[in-house]
Amino acid sequence: MAQPIAIILLAVAIAPGLAVGSSSSVINTTCAALKILQPYDYCVGVLSADPAAAAATDVAGVAAAAVNITAVKAESTLRIITYLVDDLKTCREYYSNMLESLADVRVDLGAGRFSNASFEISVNATARPDDCDILLFEGNAHKDPFTHENGENALLVRLASGIIDLLNKNLVNHGF
Ligand SMILES: *[C@@H]1O[C@H](CO)[C@@H](O)[C@H](O)[C@H]1NC(C)=O
Ligand SMILES: *[C@@H]1O[C@H](CO)[C@@H](O)[C@H](O)[C@H]1NC(C)=O
Ligand SMILES: *[C@@H]1O[C@H](CO)[C@@H](O)[C@H](O)[C@H]1NC(C)=O
Ligand SMILES: *[C@@H]1O[C@H](CO)[C@@H](O)[C@H](O)[C@H]1NC(C)=O
Repeated sequence: MAQPIAIILLAVAIAPGLAVGSSSSVINTTCAALKILQPYDYCVGVLSADPAAAAATDVAGVAAAAVNITAVKAESTLRIITYLVDDLKTCREYYSNMLESLADVRVDLGAGRFSNASFEISVNATARPDDCDILLFEGNAHKDPFTHENGENALLVRLASGIIDLLNKNLVNHGF
């Protein structure tokens, strides 16, 4: 039950920006007929803002306009998805390189090559989460679906890198 309520609240929140006083009577009649299923103000707001819907003289005309309004939105969403897929493919490369690098770091650490491990992690791993985040942030999609994920990775890799630096600089006694 919570989800339909959330959707209605969202619709109501979006509607005021679109609300227009000059809605046609066919829009009013159509929206009034839908009142139980659709928030009236949202219905009138969305349709009144569209010239074709506002000019419609019957319900069929309003329906055609509503389909077009939806198609325009779906087209825009499809474009965003395409940008995201491209950017996420690049992010997949970044994270896959990062993982390879971490495997090398593990080998270096195991062999006691702290300076190699330190160099490797800073050159090939540390910046990757930020690279992904910047790519999505600056990308055409104007959406970053996992800035939180990137942030967690960035914190963890900096932590690992910082600890390796301690070993490398011999700031702690690492002999057991
Ligand atoms: C349609 O309804 C709105 C209020 O929702 C009202 O302001 C407007 O005058 C009405 N238009 C017609 C043509 O009935
Ligand atoms: C809907 O879109 C089609 C294709 O773009 C267009 O030919 C038609 O006139 C539009 N109809 C309305 C009511 O907006
Ligand atoms: C470790 O780094 C040194 C230079 O700092 C390099 O000569 C050496 O080949 C590296 N070892 C490995 C296993 O990468
Ligand atoms: C970093 O990655 C590149 C490309 O995979 C690799 O050639 C290089 O050896 C790695 N390590 C360092 C320290 O640059």
